[in-house]
Amino acid sequence: MSYETILVEQRGAVTLVTLNRPQALNALNSQVLADLIALFAAYDADESQHCLVLTGSEKAFAAGADIKEMADKSAADMYLRELYSEWTTRICATRKPWIAAVAGFALGGGCELAMMADFIIAADTAKFGQPEITLGVAPGMGGSQRLTRAIGKAKAMEMCLTGRMMGAQEAEQAGLVARVVAAADLVDEALKTAQKIAAMPPMAAIANKELVNLAFEAPLSQALVSERRLFQILFSSEDKAEGMAAFIEKRPAIWKGR
Ligand code: HXC
Repeated sequence: MSYETILVEQRGAVTLVTLNRPQALNALNSQVLADLIALFAAYDADESQHCLVLTGSEKAFAAGADIKEMADKSAADMYLRELYSEWTTRICATRKPWIAAVAGFALGGGCELAMMADFIIAADTAKFGQPEITLGVAPGMGGSQRLTRAIGKAKAMEMCLTGRMMGAQEAEQAGLVARVVAAADLVDEALKTAQKIAAMPPMAAIANKELVNLAFEAPLSQALVSERRLFQILFSSEDKAEGMAAFIEKRPAIWKGR
């Protein structure tokens, strides 16, 4: 598969994806969106890949949707094409785990993209923000909802209404990011974490992801039933038998992915 705006390499069972529009601080134009849609579909379909890291440059993870591309769009253009919605839906439908490794600016659609990840690892240089208000609009790819669920109303409202950026330390304290690391170590740390995930039994990884995400989608009583059912179903997997036998026999497990 060839892509125009992203670099993709496979490191064992981990896919490393780097947004590569440095001249525009990785602004998300329609080519980036098309590349990411194709990439996430390919990742989900590739049985050799079990975790993915998406990163940007030192200066910017992504500085938002491409303002130059959006500038002359009308409401009808946006409504009729639903471009951003199709993109968001596809990325969020990714079943396998993926991590956003964020250094520098993650603004507008860039912040929204990072928040679509299963979790964010941030460099100490990361700056998150939803500055759409300064352009006369509002977040359109989940920012107002995911940011609020991640950090609560007070901070999310302040950020959306003022457009102010939140630094990495504050983002960690507020619960937006899982961990902050030195900028120079960002990709290595994210890859290490991804490798740890990729070494887990793949079906259980997908199930764990699905269940944590359910906390944002379903009422507690229903989500708890789903949790029990998936837990029970996993007892039929070969990897459950192997995982428990390996524990008892004090040896490493060898996963089959079934
Ligand atoms: C298009 C962008 C861009 C963007 C930066 N660039 N952000 N182009 N869309 N979102 C371009 C600049 O025009 C410039 O190109 C080059 O990248 C370098 O940017 P500078 O502004 O010169 O860099 P700097 O002074 O360091 O400032 C960095 C910055 C600033 C603070 C991140 O670029 C900025 O405020 N960018 C816009 C952030 C933003 O508002 N994002 C939200 C977008 S709306 P040239 O050719 O001049 O060198 C959005 C909606 C999502 O995301 C919802 C969709 C449904």
